[in-house]
Amino acid sequence: MVTRTVDLRSDTVTKPTEAMRAAMASADVDDDVLGADPTAQRFEEEMARIMGKEAALFVPSGTMGNLISVLVHCEIRGSEVIMGDNSHIHVYENGGIATIGGVHPKTVENNPDGTMDIDRIEAAIRHPNGALYYPTTRLICLENTHANCGGRCISADYTDRVGELARKHGLKLHIDGARIFNASVALGVPVHRLVQAADSVSVCMSKGLGAPVGSVIVGTKEFITKAKRLRKTLGGGMRQIGILCAAAFVALQENIVKLEDDHRKAKIFAEMVLTISDGLKEIKQFRVNASSVETNMVFFDVADPSVISPVSLCETLGKFGVLAMPTSSTSLRVVIHFQISEGDIHYALTCIKQAIQEIVAVGIAK
Ligand SMILES: Cc1ncc(COP(=O)(O)O)c(C=O)c1O
Repeated sequence: MVTRTVDLRSDTVTKPTEAMRAAMASADVDDDVLGADPTAQRFEEEMARIMGKEAALFVPSGTMGNLISVLVHCEIRGSEVIMGDNSHIHVYENGGIATIGGVHPKTVENNPDGTMDIDRIEAAIRHPNGALYYPTTRLICLENTHANCGGRCISADYTDRVGELARKHGLKLHIDGARIFNASVALGVPVHRLVQAADSVSVCMSKGLGAPVGSVIVGTKEFITKAKRLRKTLGGGMRQIGILCAAAFVALQENIVKLEDDHRKAKIFAEMVLTISDGLKEIKQFRVNASSVETNMVFFDVADPSVISPVSLCETLGKFGVLAMPTSSTSLRVVIHFQISEGDIHYALTCIKQAIQEIVAVGIAK
């Protein structure tokens, strides 16, 4: 019988804190589609200020934030956007920019650290001479932190260089900053500096910051005016969103400071998984590069999926109440958030050891 649950599937699984629930209950609200919700207005102004941009807009999800941003920058038919082949927009957002927006994606290989080589980005920009045949490049997208690359941070210097390239070619730069606060904390760089070169940024409040719902997009006033219209088109115009913004406000005020501790625990986790793996008498079970753990995510590869597959490991762990997510046939990930204690981490690690022994024993008995 499961007596304890340690949910490491994602940082989206946090439950609203008491302070968030209290703020939601007492939020001053009105109809935001009519532009009248005072809590939403205050929250958006604060987000614009923190991000160093002219204006901000609350949207229901990170996916909608990215979609709206891409569509605003690519409003002319036949537009193309350059993005990482392993980016969230490309891999996990249902191809919405193409299916809904008619925008053509052009991928460039992501390096293991989440960057794309600048010369490769430049080579991917369509030459205007080919306009009779080619789509027109209008936008470059970066992701910070880069989730599929293990939550790695993209530096301000790299972002600036991509911004310069974009300007040189008359393009815009959008950042999927679902976890930009994790990057800011890990790098020790203010968030507005990290996104200085970007024309727009989408920020999730419902990831490591722990709000129950919502993302914010930021950019110029003109960008946000167009974004607001698209939000309505996509069905994302909602009425008394002050309730959600009140919780997001608490997330902003109380939870940014907790991210550093999440990163510390993720490092402990990575290092201890290696110790467990080494300590078992079977062959080493996992490969994890602990030094590449920069924020709150730990991806590890199983050494031999025919002995231990990510799916079998996650299923067996589930029986102990430890929830993790397979990410491919050879890898799985755990994500730390502020509702995971150090005790939870030690419990999860004990369960991993037990799960491995169980799986290996069943395998031998077969
Ligand atoms: C990097 C990144 N961008 C965007 C999103 C989309 O956010 P949402 O799930 O709120 O649509 C996610 C979700 O996990 C993400 O990890």
